[in-house]
Amino acid sequence: MKSIVDMNIAGKRVFVRVDFNVPLDDHRHITDETRIKAALPTLKFALEQGAKLIVASHLGRPKGERVDRFSLSPVAERLGRLLGMDVRMAPDCIGPEVQALADRMADGEVILLENLRFHPGEQKNEDEFARQLAGLCDVYINDAFAVSHRANASVVAITRYVPDCAAGLLLKRELDHFQKAMADPKRPLVAIIGGAKVSSKLAALENMLRHVDKIIIGGAMANTFLKATGGEVGKSRVETDMVETAGAILTTAVEKSIKFYLPVDVVVADRLAPDAATKVVPVQEIPANWMALDIGPASSLLYAAVLHDAGTIVWNGPMGVFEMEAFSNGTLEMARHVAGSQAMSIVGGGDTDAAVHQSGEAGNIDYISTGGGAFLTLLEGKTLPAVAALNRIESRPQS
Ligand code: 3PG
Repeated sequence: MKSIVDMNIAGKRVFVRVDFNVPLDDHRHITDETRIKAALPTLKFALEQGAKLIVASHLGRPKGERVDRFSLSPVAERLGRLLGMDVRMAPDCIGPEVQALADRMADGEVILLENLRFHPGEQKNEDEFARQLAGLCDVYINDAFAVSHRANASVVAITRYVPDCAAGLLLKRELDHFQKAMADPKRPLVAIIGGAKVSSKLAALENMLRHVDKIIIGGAMANTFLKATGGEVGKSRVETDMVETAGAILTTAVEKSIKFYLPVDVVVADRLAPDAATKVVPVQEIPANWMALDIGPASSLLYAAVLHDAGTIVWNGPMGVFEMEAFSNGTLEMARHVAGSQAMSIVGGGDTDAAVHQSGEAGNIDYISTGGGAFLTLLEGKTLPAVAALNRIESRPQS
């Protein structure tokens, strides 16, 4: 895939679509700058080349209207601090005033456009909106992996209107790591899939069955699988309409000789609350009025043994309700097992990312994706619409 390093961008107006959809607290302070830092290599590279940098992102879901609490202005300030230079906040992302700003930029200058989602055209992938964004620049770079699963104007339609388009360093890095893990992995390839619902991970599970040697299941979705094996799970969360599907996944795994692991013990509680009464029980002995909220210590040991010979590990989804201390052990232990493994490890998804950071093991994981939905879309074996758009450009006959 063509990337920014393959282009001559000196003196050009370079539009870099990033994903600065960062969490803000009630005072609009950024509480996690990971996504801003992840875009810095591309932005610094462009500046070193003497480009005029037009940075664009969405923030939150303002639904096509200007909503002040979704303004990117706190991000402009943080980006300026991280780059060590002034970043000018544009009043909007399109319109005559922004066009004039872009036209008057000096080499090495940076402007951050206001939230793309203040305009309905962004999420409608509208041509007219994309055309106006394209009019601001000479070169388009997509470095917004985390939103590349959305067919939005600033990642898809825009590529039809800017003659010179390519991937940024982060987008390339994300795709390269994923490709390495799934297409040509060092085996055994182990997928760890957690989270609440089989339904939201179904496509990923089905795709994993085509690639992996072992699958480890955790989180509330394990209850649905346990049900499918004929187990009783008390008051635990179960997707009743997915029990049959979960059974079919287990059958396919057996047919394909994929080793499929469910928890053998769980932490149960009398209710979902930080101060609930808890105990550890084998999965065969979940009391009728209790609910499973985390994997137990025996499962944790089992999963460590499963990972022991792994060549590659792909992890998405927590093992329990890790946000509550009483039910966080399974997920934090898993982070330690993955971090301690010799395998090439890739972790993706907002919750999993948060858990890995909480465990203090983030530095020992080979790659932590900046994507949630985008990472899951790749796990499902699908092409990201924004990546397809860039590839279409590359295959376009050169004039
Ligand atoms: C994310 O945070 O996952 C991306 O920025 C996409 O945001 P969205 O789910 O609001 O489209």
